Amino acid sequence: MAHPPVFNATEDRAQSGNPLGAAREAPMRLAAQVEEELASKLRERATSTPEFWSFSGRSRREAGHGIFAYPAMMVPQLQGALLEDVKAVDPAVASVIDPFMGSGTVMLESASRGLSFSGTDINPLAVLLATVKSQVHDSEQLTRVRQRIALRVTEDTSDEIEVEFHNRDKWFRADVTRDLSKLKRAISAERSKAMRQAFWVAMAETIRLVSNSRTSTVKLHSYSVDEIDARQIDTIGTFLRISASLIEQLRDQAETLSRGFRKNPNLRISCSVGDARNMPAKKNRAAADILMTSPPYGDNVTTVTYGQHSYLPLQWIDCSDVPGMRQELLENTRSIDSLSLGGKLKGALTWADELRDKSPAFAHCLEQLQAHPRNAQLRFVGFVHDLDQSLDAITAQLRSNAWMFWTLGERKISGVRVPTVAIVRDLLAFRGSRHVETLERKIPGGSKRMAFRNASVETMNTESILVMRGPSYTDLDSRS
Ligand SMILES: C[S@@+](CC[C@H](N)C(=O)[O-])C[C@H]1O[C@@H](n2cnc3c(N)ncnc32)[C@H](O)[C@@H]1O
Repeated sequence: MAHPPVFNATEDRAQSGNPLGAAREAPMRLAAQVEEELASKLRERATSTPEFWSFSGRSRREAGHGIFAYPAMMVPQLQGALLEDVKAVDPAVASVIDPFMGSGTVMLESASRGLSFSGTDINPLAVLLATVKSQVHDSEQLTRVRQRIALRVTEDTSDEIEVEFHNRDKWFRADVTRDLSKLKRAISAERSKAMRQAFWVAMAETIRLVSNSRTSTVKLHSYSVDEIDARQIDTIGTFLRISASLIEQLRDQAETLSRGFRKNPNLRISCSVGDARNMPAKKNRAAADILMTSPPYGDNVTTVTYGQHSYLPLQWIDCSDVPGMRQELLENTRSIDSLSLGGKLKGALTWADELRDKSPAFAHCLEQLQAHPRNAQLRFVGFVHDLDQSLDAITAQLRSNAWMFWTLGERKISGVRVPTVAIVRDLLAFRGSRHVETLERKIPGGSKRMAFRNASVETMNTESILVMRGPSYTDLDSRS
C-alpha cells in the first residue's frame, strides 16, 4: 500500500516543527507560487473566451490526429493549450508520459513542442496507431507504396481467404472477406515495416467501415441480415480512399514532428504496450516532468469497449507488425477489455476498506450504492481499485513536483453518479500531490461514444481536467 510522503506539503512542514521544514520552506513557497501562476493562466483562458475549454467548433483532428476513429479521443488543441501554459510557467519541462495513451493524441502534441514522450496502452491497436503517428514518413514513398498495393490487388486472382476466426462470416460478407484477403497479401508483400504499419492503419479504418458491425456504436453490434445484403460495399475503393487521405495526414504530421525535432534535436518518443498498473519505476533523471492522460471512464465492458472496437481490425493485421500483439488477446471479443482497468470483478469488495481510507469521495459513493445490486458495487470498487493501483505505478514514473493533467469523465452506475474527479483527487492527495485547478468542459455534440446506454450505464456530457502537482520527494527519496 502506498503512503503519503512525509513533509511534502508546506502545511505539513509548518505543523510538524521538523527542522527540515525551515530549510525547505523557501523552495516550497516558490512551488506554490508557480502552481498559482498556472492556475490563473488556465482560468484566464476562460475569462477572455467563455467556454474556452469546450473547444466547441475549434476541435479538429488533422496532421495525423485523424488517421483512425479510435473511441473517446482527446481534443488535440486542448491538450496543446495545456502544454503551452505549463511550459510558460515552468520552462524547464522536457518530458511527458501518458500511461493510457490511446491513439497518441498527447504524443503528437508533446512531440510537436519538442517535449519527449513515453506512452503505453494495453490495447495493441492503440499502440500501432500511436507508433505510426510517431514516425516521420516520406510521403512520396507512401504514394509509391499505395500504387504498388493497388496494382497487386488488381492482379491478384486468388480466392484464398487469409484469416480464420470464430464468427468471421457473421462479421464480414464473403465478397468483403475476399477483398480484405487481397489487401492483406498486398500489404504483407511490402518490405519496409514502417510502410506496412502505415497501411495496416488504413486497413484497420477500412475494416471499421466495411464489416457488418454498425459504426454508430463502439461495441460490436451487427446489422440485420437484410441490411447486410442490401449494403453497397466497395472494400478496395474504401481502402484506396482512406489510404489517400492517410498519406495527406501523414504529410502534415511529418511536418509537425519535424518542427518538434528542430526545437529539440534530442527528442525521444516511445510508444509501447503496457499495463498502467505494472509499469516499472523510472530512476532519477529518466523520470518525467509531466503526466498528461485520460484513463477510461469506468470498466471497459460497460463504458467504452476499446478492445472490442479493435477486435475485428486486429484479426486482419499481421501480428508481427503490431507492437506487443499476442494471439491470446484475440481469444474472444472481450479478451482485451477484461485485461483493462476494472476488467476483473472477482473479490473486488475486499478492497473497499482500503479505498475508503484513501478517499472520502469513494466512501460516500459506495454508501449510495449500498441500496443497489451487488454487481453495481463490484463494478465501482473493481474499477477504482485498478485505477488506484495504477497511480502507484504512474507516480513512480514522475519527477519530484511533476505536473499532472487528468482528463476525466464521470458516469452513472445504477443511477448514481460516480464522482471520479473527486476520487482521483483524493487518491493523488493521499500520495502527497497538491490540487492546482479543475477545469470543466462540455463535450460538444453530447457524451463521448459509449458501448451502449441504458438506465444503469450513463455518462455525462461534460468532462473535467484535473490539474495536480505531484509529490515533492525528500532527500530520503532520490527522485529529482
Ligand atoms: C480514454 S482512452 C485514451 C484516449 C487517448 N487519450 C486518445 O486521445 O486517443 C483510455 C485508454 O486506456 C486504455 N487502457 C485501459 N486499461 C488500461 C491499462 N490497465 N493500462 C494501460 N492502458 C489501459 C484503453 O485501451 C484506452 O486506449
